[in-house]
Amino acid sequence: MQRNSDVPKIITIEKVIDETPTVRTLVFSDEVLSTVLPGQFAMVWIPGINELPMSVMVFPEKGKAAFTVRKHGMASTELYSIKVGEQIGVRGPYGNSFTIKQGKLLLVGGGTGLVPLIRLLTFLKKTDDVTLLIGSKTKNEVFFEKIANQILEHNKHQVIVVTEDSSYGKAGLVTQIMEDLVFKTKFDAVYTCGPEKMMYKVVQLASSKDTHVEASIERMMKCGMGICGSCCFGEVLACRDGTIFDGKYLLSNKEFGYTHRNKAGILENY
Ligand SMILES: Cc1cc2nc3c(=O)[nH]c(=O)nc-3n(C[C@H](O)[C@H](O)[C@H](O)COP(=O)(O)OP(=O)(O)OC[C@H]3O[C@@H](n4cnc5c(N)ncnc54)[C@H](O)[C@@H]3O)c2cc1C
Ligand code: FES
Repeated sequence: MQRNSDVPKIITIEKVIDETPTVRTLVFSDEVLSTVLPGQFAMVWIPGINELPMSVMVFPEKGKAAFTVRKHGMASTELYSIKVGEQIGVRGPYGNSFTIKQGKLLLVGGGTGLVPLIRLLTFLKKTDDVTLLIGSKTKNEVFFEKIANQILEHNKHQVIVVTEDSSYGKAGLVTQIMEDLVFKTKFDAVYTCGPEKMMYKVVQLASSKDTHVEASIERMMKCGMGICGSCCFGEVLACRDGTIFDGKYLLSNKEFGYTHRNKAGILENY
């Protein structure tokens, strides 16, 4: 059965925020997308170019939502280059959402994988003790540190930036810092979104401590609603059954961390 949210609607970009030299946030008004659950995504139509899955970013004004896009190939570069007043199509939301746990929570994100984690922060209780690890190659590519601290201002929290070239925050890989943290602290839940090799290590580390862990999986998506099969991830469909899966399932799926399908549907190694 078709839902209203499956019908593409046209939205107008109202504000463009430069986050880094290659990442921009595009703000627009939409009652439905402004209230999506943490981890849900929309299909974004760039007229004449392509349609891409995008996580829905929070914006601190009622009725507004955003996409945070990194310029990469043709479609994302067109989306990144869009100007205030220009229009795109959106449909959704699609996908499941992170399970909201309470207590000591660890969130590990890299790049635009931070988008669903920042939305998750807005769903947490003020009594939660939250640690957010932000991984980046270098200082110029760090974003969302300020907004994360703002959302968490009434929580006990720490936002730790980790850069691979040691130009800002802690030096190394975000998973090395996580290894130290989980050695010292027993977390109640771990959430992750970002490069799959990073998420694989995060899931392994959390599972080795018997900690509940969830990761958001990215696969090639065309329909976004369980019809075309382009997002298959082992026996499941990332768009319909995920994109969020728990650690127990992920470690049983032989594709996780190793292979994904390219645009032609052919399995490729990471
Ligand atoms: C659920 C989900 C949420 C996402 N959220 C964001 C986000 O918030 N911000 C952001 O910048 N990017 C996000 N992406 C990635 C984004 O959809 C594109 O993959 C990326 O922008 C590159 O697209 P491109 O066509 O410019 O690059 P291309 O150079 O054409 O493709 C490069 C690679 O991008 C991937 N890709 C391209 N098209 C798709 C597609 N339709 N579906 C999935 N992967 C594709 C493939 O791995 C491809 O090999 C998300 C992807 C998924 C699945
Ligand atoms: S994108 Fe078509 S089935 Fe998932």
